[in-house]
Amino acid sequence: MLDIKNLQVYYGVIAAVRGIDMHVDPNTIVTLIGSNGAGKTSTLNAIVNAVKKSGQVIFDGKDISKEPTHRIVREGIALVPEGRRVFINLTVEENLRMGAFNNDANYERLRDEMYTLFPRLAGKREQKAGTLSGGEQQMLAIARALMSEPRLLMLDEPSLGLAPKIVGEVFEIITELKKRITILLIEQNAFAALKIADFGYVLENGTISLADKASNLLGNDEVRKKYLGG
Ligand SMILES: Nc1ncnc2c1ncn2[C@@H]1O[C@H](COP(=O)(O)OP(=O)(O)O)[C@@H](O)[C@H]1O
Ligand SMILES: [Mg+2]
Repeated sequence: MLDIKNLQVYYGVIAAVRGIDMHVDPNTIVTLIGSNGAGKTSTLNAIVNAVKKSGQVIFDGKDISKEPTHRIVREGIALVPEGRRVFINLTVEENLRMGAFNNDANYERLRDEMYTLFPRLAGKREQKAGTLSGGEQQMLAIARALMSEPRLLMLDEPSLGLAPKIVGEVFEIITELKKRITILLIEQNAFAALKIADFGYVLENGTISLADKASNLLGNDEVRKKYLGG
């Protein structure tokens, strides 16, 4: 579904991503784990052409490397950025409506699907997004991205700053989503990500140091030492 070849991102002379290759199969969860500053966010931004990059991004057989971000979104890729950016002064329902701006005909059906998928949001549809808990805002950010009916959902550190119990809940929903779409999950929380992923890549200083089935990475000594606390 997604093929990344020799992707490089430079900020001036700083090399953030140094020629990585990645592959995402349809209806799987692929995770890219790595510590702070490894180049994870730069990789996602490069996929949607929001930063200057070189290399190739192929989506469903089509080279989208040179396409503008808005067209990439229309092709079926949605990105939930770091820091769960929701419209804090709009209600839950208004946030969902914004997510459907290019998909108006399906708005009501999708909105109802989101309330089924995220029961926590259903009870708060008229509440301002800024008054939701961190976990609920993350759920709303994901739900809003889903309103455009993407085929590939990319999540940038959805667990950041959330209590462990809520991380579990958010990740259960992500697992549930795998039945209908493909997910590229970026995480510092390697343990939570590898538990739900099918395949994982480890990013270190802009380079892929390991690529394997998620279950193998969970058992890998090096990964355990560096990312799973022993
Ligand atoms: N806009 C930018 N300008 C300059 N350097 C940046 C910029 N964004 C990120 N970087 C640098 O690129 C490297 C990778 O950052 P990033 O992709 O945000 O990593 P991660 O998401 O894994 O924490 C870091 O060294 C960071 O300081
Ligand atoms: Mg980041």
